[in-house]
Amino acid sequence: MDAYAGGYKSHLCPKIPPSPALTPDTQGRFNWRTVKSHHPIEQYSQLPSGKPSPRPSVQYNFKSVPKESNERIDSRRDAVREVFKRCWNNYRERAWTKDELGPISGGAKDTFGSWGATLVDSLDTLWIMDLKQEFAEAIDAATKIDFGPKIDGEINVFETIIRYLGGFLGAYDVSGCHDARLLNKAIEVADLAYAAFDTPNRMPVSRWNPKKAVFGEEQLPAESMLIAEAASASVEFTRLSQLTGDMRYFDAISRVTNVLDEQQASTKLPGMWPISVNMRKPDLTFDGFFGLGAMADSAYEYLPKMYQLLNGLGPATQYQKMYEYAMSTAITHTMFRPMTHDKADILIASGNVNGERESKGQHLVCFAGGMFALGGRLFENTTHINVGRKLSNGCAWTYKNAPNGIMPEVFSMTACSTLSVCEYTAPAGSSPFSEVGDGRYVLRPEAIESMLYMYRITGESKYQDIAWGMFEAVSNLTRTEFGNAAISNVMKTPVETYDSMESFWLAETLKYFYLIFSDPSEISLDEFVLNTEAHPFRIPHR
Ligand SMILES: *[C@@H]1O[C@H](CO)[C@@H](O)[C@H](O)[C@H]1NC(C)=O
Ligand SMILES: *[C@@H]1O[C@H](CO)[C@@H](O)[C@H](O)[C@H]1NC(C)=O
Repeated sequence: MDAYAGGYKSHLCPKIPPSPALTPDTQGRFNWRTVKSHHPIEQYSQLPSGKPSPRPSVQYNFKSVPKESNERIDSRRDAVREVFKRCWNNYRERAWTKDELGPISGGAKDTFGSWGATLVDSLDTLWIMDLKQEFAEAIDAATKIDFGPKIDGEINVFETIIRYLGGFLGAYDVSGCHDARLLNKAIEVADLAYAAFDTPNRMPVSRWNPKKAVFGEEQLPAESMLIAEAASASVEFTRLSQLTGDMRYFDAISRVTNVLDEQQASTKLPGMWPISVNMRKPDLTFDGFFGLGAMADSAYEYLPKMYQLLNGLGPATQYQKMYEYAMSTAITHTMFRPMTHDKADILIASGNVNGERESKGQHLVCFAGGMFALGGRLFENTTHINVGRKLSNGCAWTYKNAPNGIMPEVFSMTACSTLSVCEYTAPAGSSPFSEVGDGRYVLRPEAIESMLYMYRITGESKYQDIAWGMFEAVSNLTRTEFGNAAISNVMKTPVETYDSMESFWLAETLKYFYLIFSDPSEISLDEFVLNTEAHPFRIPHR
């Protein structure tokens, strides 16, 4: 496709936000800006301007390593691409513009607003895997999606932001900001999501009814909301303000950040925010359940990513301060070293309930290894890089020692009494888990995500080898007639699959696998920030 020639080298993305701000071209579709605001804002917070100071690079200096012939790595990358292509072709033939393909039934399902979740979520992966024809075709279809108030019932605003808004922004950024249709589409979804922030205290409604909003009915933020859903639009909304010059989005998430900042020291585990928060008051201090994993994850993950996206300028230091405080609490109160037969020096990120550290692990929290390594690089803290390494190695260890080479969704282990030394060693041949609370593997990306960060940050090729082991196990055991399917219990042999292939399999899992076997300059972590759905956003000024 000629329109996409030029690729990475000649991007047209703005270095500074456009002024005056861009207005959307909705091409006759519903325009969410026409819905009257109940609680208009007089003055918007502005993105910081100025020249960023030089920062240490995130990625290892791969240039210092002589380039060897990489046939083995290339063939691994090709194997990943083949798995992606097979899934994509079946999605295209059997579930085109639906949210998901059923990988066993070969049918189509709508699970995330019925706007074509897999279609939008996969756009930037198509570009990255050099499937340019498919990319062009997918954009044509995605441009026709109608984000108007057709849905009766509530939508999950968080999922809409990370998958759809993230998907359009990632596709726009990776393809060099050449195709204005993608930015227009991003604005269209963002204006829908932005309407969910129209509340008395400007905190978002996380489960929100678009039809009610259009009929002028007021909706309030929930008195019990997940912290991840309350606090995870920052990276997407900030990138959109950078690309459009429209500060409404950045303003919206700044208000949420300020609430988190104000209450960070008053929670039951000062430094961290609990899983459940009251955004109507707002009061973030009543719940006693804490952790970096499910239902909280991206609220923490986005703190260092915001610092990086803002180039260290202005409120970036607020995000740094919040992150460092949160992580020092997380290290002390939510992690444990498990007892293993081989005395592995690893860490597992867990939870803390009413002051007691749990000794549970979850697949979802495996992103934390990558986050600690990234934050350690951005804020020059070697302790954090080491914690990132041990957490990532903990996930790698769990994969390797699980009976079929895949970590279960939720499990418990026996904890050592400290993070550094262990007085007891589990006997050889004993199960790595004291209990498996949820044996599924739902094609999740977090473990491979951390392997990619560790490889890019340390330059150690062992992470590519670990990744290949994960890929072999996952691709073999989940393969079905039409794609790849979730496993109902990874502890049982032979494993059984069920008819689910969530959009993150193509958006995240296979993208991370592909990138770890690609040249490290592809989607460099010094040029891009990846949102929590693995959509790469370009860092301005670079
Ligand atoms: C690095 O992080 C640790 C743990 O959070 C903290 O105690 C230490 O002060 C930090 N070091 C620097 C140089 O910021
Ligand atoms: C996966 O399948 C390939 C090819 O069929 C085989 O060579 C490899 O050993 C399998 N890996 C695992 C972990 O089962």
